[in-house]
Amino acid sequence: MAYNISLIQGDGIGKEISEAASRVIDATLVRINWDFCDAGSDAYEKYGNPLPDETITSIRKNKLALKGPITTPVGTGFSSVNVQLRKLFELYANYRPAHSITGINSRFSDVNLIVIRENMEGLYSGLEHEVTKGVVESIRVITEKGSERIIRFAFETAKKFNRKKVTAVHKANILKKSDGLFLEVAQKIAKEYPDVAYDESIIDATAMKLVIDPSQFDVLVMENLFGDIVSDLTSGLIGGLGVAPSANIGADCAIFEAVHGSAPDIAGKGIANPTALLFSGVLMLRYLDENDAADRVYQAVVKVIQKGIVTKDLGGNATTEEYVNAIIKEL
Ligand code: NAI
Repeated sequence: MAYNISLIQGDGIGKEISEAASRVIDATLVRINWDFCDAGSDAYEKYGNPLPDETITSIRKNKLALKGPITTPVGTGFSSVNVQLRKLFELYANYRPAHSITGINSRFSDVNLIVIRENMEGLYSGLEHEVTKGVVESIRVITEKGSERIIRFAFETAKKFNRKKVTAVHKANILKKSDGLFLEVAQKIAKEYPDVAYDESIIDATAMKLVIDPSQFDVLVMENLFGDIVSDLTSGLIGGLGVAPSANIGADCAIFEAVHGSAPDIAGKGIANPTALLFSGVLMLRYLDENDAADRVYQAVVKVIQKGIVTKDLGGNATTEEYVNAIIKEL
């Protein structure tokens, strides 16, 4: 059987790392028909649209995509393609595991946690307006339905991967109504999962606890902006954005992508680190229940890192191609 998967290459370093990731995944011999799709600034120049209809049609058909990063112009220009994709396909859960990797220098060697970020509500609803000159408001939307499905996703994840605890991260001491609702829903759903422990942690204290002792956490669930920040923090605990994978998951569609951006400062130089997208590919293989191939890719990447064949951001001098060739040889 062959899987049909949309490969959204993105822009900046997107083409280099998505080509690298697809080459490695192909080397597992899992049969995949990659449907190459345009998105981002190149697509904007070509079609006058950073998210062309052809790309949307491909994802709608395949219900599965591996995606390179896409530049979001600041202030002016087209709106975030990433946010558009999440909204269009209702990818409500952002799944970001952080596992220490032997061979990568980082503050801790035993990090093993999962951040689950609500992906569609909160401040990312994009509801901003100018009340009067010099005063703007952004509206932070928290709904019962949105909270319920992300918290349920967190507990289901804990159950599936034999995790012991779910922590709801919040600021309900100040945001009494919105985060109060989030916590109320979390407490209700926690009762349905007696085998998974449940606790709560205030966002600012969570940040402090994570940098002192991340082992006190297992699965963390939170609203959009908190999740955006905390998941970058947890990426930092395992060696940075260059190695942190993620998945955007909805009811019937999933898009797997690296946590980092399009790195315009190094685009086209052949030195980008494809590990984060490769590990996102590993998550995608697990999503497809191709667990053997997922394990093999993960082990091959770790072995190559341990041999010191790494790109400049990880302290080495390998090019993207040399790194990928070493992984494929290992496979
Ligand atoms: P960035 O993650 O692209 O880069 C931050 C720093 O990390 C840069 O010095 C870059 O060279 C380095 N870096 C990032 N990924 C790397 C890799 N794979 N290998 C080696 N070095 C790497 O963040 P920045 O500069 O804030 O954002 C650039 C653009 O990417 C922005 O337009 C932003 O909106 C967009 N972005 C897109 C995302 C996505 O498509 N999911 C996620 C985050 C940002």
